[in-house]
Amino acid sequence: MNKNRYRIGVLTSGMSRGSNLLAIRNWFNENQLPVDISFVVVTHRRAPVIERCQYFGLEHIFVSTKDMAEFEERVLTLISEREIDLIVLAGFLKKLSAEFLEKAAIPTLNIHPALLPKYGGEGMYGSNVHKEVFRNQESESGATVHYVNKCYDEGEIILQRKVGLEGCESPEQVAERVLKIEHETYAPAIWEALQRHRKL
Ligand code: GRF
Repeated sequence: MNKNRYRIGVLTSGMSRGSNLLAIRNWFNENQLPVDISFVVVTHRRAPVIERCQYFGLEHIFVSTKDMAEFEERVLTLISEREIDLIVLAGFLKKLSAEFLEKAAIPTLNIHPALLPKYGGEGMYGSNVHKEVFRNQESESGATVHYVNKCYDEGEIILQRKVGLEGCESPEQVAERVLKIEHETYAPAIWEALQRHRKL
């Protein structure tokens, strides 16, 4: 395989729309950076992200999360066979075991739709986060890209961007504003982590 390029693998879930996946792909293309999305793991046969993969020519691979040990084994094989440099979680909600992270021996990144350490932890995902932010009448929220470790949302932060919430009248409006920021934050953070991990 070409050692002068980086290869990333993406893990998604049944809830993933693929908007971050697309933003990542576009950012690397537009900036002409040597990063290839080697595969996208989908965990539901009808996940909306599949259509996006097909449209943009990204290989998607179905792996069930019914048995997490089997899931992790399969992803570890993919990481090794494809010589993956970094794993990106894009809407993947299950916890990855400490053993998996250790065996993978490459960085795994996640994006959280809030300003961690606030509004993180178990159960804090998707609309749950935005509902809480809205309920607390926060004046700002944002997106946080962090390394994944064995505790939900507690890994080292790589990049965090804020967005003002003036005029937001519902959790849905908060979500919309945050998603826009997510799309601007994830790819630069991945690029930063790739370079930290392996110099080309
Ligand atoms: C994003 O909101 C992200 O914060 C969370 O999962 C969602 C995925 O959305 N981790 P999409 O599939 O990228 O549109």
